[in-house]
Amino acid sequence: MSQDDGASLLRSPERRGSDSIKWQRYAGRDVLPLWVADMDFAAPQPVLEALQARIAHGVFGYAHPWPSLTDAVVDGIARHHGWQIDADWLVWLPGVVTGFNVASHLAGEPGDGILAMTPVYPPFLSSPRLAGRKLLRSDLLQVGESWIPDWEDLHTQASQARMLMLCNPHNPVGRSWTRQELQHIATLAEQHDWLVMSDDIHCGLVLDPQRPYTPLASLDEDIARRTITLMAPSKTWNIPALYAGFAIIPDAPLRRRYQHAMQGLVPHLNVLGLVATEAAYRDGDAWLDALIAQLRDNAHTVQDAVAAMPGLTTTPVEATYLAWLDCRALAGHGVSDAAAFFEQHGVGLSDGKDFGAPGFLRLNFGCPPALLAQALQRMRSALATLA
Ligand SMILES: Cc1ncc(COP(=O)(O)O)c(C=O)c1O
Repeated sequence: MSQDDGASLLRSPERRGSDSIKWQRYAGRDVLPLWVADMDFAAPQPVLEALQARIAHGVFGYAHPWPSLTDAVVDGIARHHGWQIDADWLVWLPGVVTGFNVASHLAGEPGDGILAMTPVYPPFLSSPRLAGRKLLRSDLLQVGESWIPDWEDLHTQASQARMLMLCNPHNPVGRSWTRQELQHIATLAEQHDWLVMSDDIHCGLVLDPQRPYTPLASLDEDIARRTITLMAPSKTWNIPALYAGFAIIPDAPLRRRYQHAMQGLVPHLNVLGLVATEAAYRDGDAWLDALIAQLRDNAHTVQDAVAAMPGLTTTPVEATYLAWLDCRALAGHGVSDAAAFFEQHGVGLSDGKDFGAPGFLRLNFGCPPALLAQALQRMRSALATLA
């Protein structure tokens, strides 16, 4: 499956038989993997060239982030998201999951509550427990074509929480929270003196121009003071296994507490991840434009295909390359495990139960259109067997 297209900046080298977790899961079986959140596209050429140049140097001693790297990140966040951060606010991290697990240790005292809006990326569900805290779930509500916070429930649970774990844009429902929604969250945070961890790893992947990404901490000084924002180049430029990311913590005392909690547990970053981060933020815009155009097409393809699939519904994806499919109606046709059903018919999807929502599936459309079309065709054929 080499889908190289000279006219495009997006290359899709063969991944079967490689080290890919996504493809290895179904090694030796004819199952198209549309599950774990990485894309089947090679990283941007400037990132590859920066990595090659660094490798050619040949010495891989311990490295600190350097000024042109922090400049690239600060400038990139200002250019892409209109948020002017200070380089001093950055705390480098070898992964965003590590970053939010550190944050959970700062939420009040052991036994205190941490709120998360569900369904959500599975490590959110385990993070409070791993830090000796209690998970408080607030289920998102589906209203028409969109998923929204259940404000009444959030207000009810607010006083039991010491921290909110926000996912913006939200994996798996694909929402890019509006300024108004974020303002509501900020008001709750201020009223109840919450710490907020905002996982913004997907913020570079906005597909709907009507739903620009707004960083929660950019709203005002009070919310900035209580927010730990996590970002990484990993999803946007498809370099997740290079493990480079950062927290943005404007408040100096909170930043010191966070760095203290990291001590002895969180390692320094791999120098190749740092090199790739600089190149991505500084020179990755052209590739990203091509990617967003492809992902928009793919998102429409998924919407149209699912609309014609009996028993399945979905909602428009504002951001991310992940579609959230409601398959609960399939139970009426004898399909109690939709993930297993589609896997038997040659498509590997993520099971919603891992996100706290049995009966749903997450479909990763970060792949070449031909592969996506083939997978959707297999899903149609699978459903035809139920008639
Ligand atoms: C919301 C969210 N946070 C974090 C991660 C993973 O972050 P990392 O690999 O940097 O730990 C993912 C990966 O899918 C994600 O969707």
